[in-house]
Amino acid sequence: MESKRVAAERAVEFVTDGMIVGLGTGSTAFWAIRKIGQRVKEGLKIQAIATSTASEKLARELGIPLLSFAEIDTIDVTIDGADEVDSNWNLTKGGGGALLREKIVASVSKELIIIVDESKIVEELGSFPLPVEIIPFGYEMTLKQLHKLGAEPLLRKTDDQIYKTDNGNFIADCHFGKIANPEELHQALNLIPGVVDNGLFVKLATHVIVGHKDGSVRELSPS
Ligand code: A5P
Repeated sequence: MESKRVAAERAVEFVTDGMIVGLGTGSTAFWAIRKIGQRVKEGLKIQAIATSTASEKLARELGIPLLSFAEIDTIDVTIDGADEVDSNWNLTKGGGGALLREKIVASVSKELIIIVDESKIVEELGSFPLPVEIIPFGYEMTLKQLHKLGAEPLLRKTDDQIYKTDNGNFIADCHFGKIANPEELHQALNLIPGVVDNGLFVKLATHVIVGHKDGSVRELSPS
């Protein structure tokens, strides 16, 4: 928890008056939203756009002014967590189920600051099963198509009920083994009818901030 909090709080130092800020989702982004809320109370003037209903609710509770996509053309900075970060800063995201909204927000952000604890830093993606958002119609067939692409897809469930995203879709958690070429896999997955998007974020991160258990923080330099 400490490692997530320190990384999140360092990232919030990038936020300044007048910015439009993307709010990520998950237990690390939670700390960033809390810190932004605190700074807004102290007078920081920003407006935000959230990547999930959970983050939107938290932001409202903290008094962070929220915008809709109709009101903006771009986002200055987005702060979000990740499930894995590889040596090229490609990411696996979606462990918390918010990958689609997170990707929509990340793709229109000038800066995407990824905040993680040290356990998320890997050489190659793939130990964490890749979340793939699929539409409910024909999902059994979409799972078969994912299998044909080399995955062991597992339909995400909570308490025996099929898990539903904020968008009313399902998630297939896909074990592919090591992902040697994230860009290629990303494209192949999104060509399957029934797949809405997948949790690979390729060449989107502009900063990676890593928190450690001892409370230290380090910002990675691009390789
Ligand atoms: C939410 O869908 C995810 O993409 C999260 O950003 C990711 O799972 C990291 O979550 P934690 O910060 O809770 O580990």
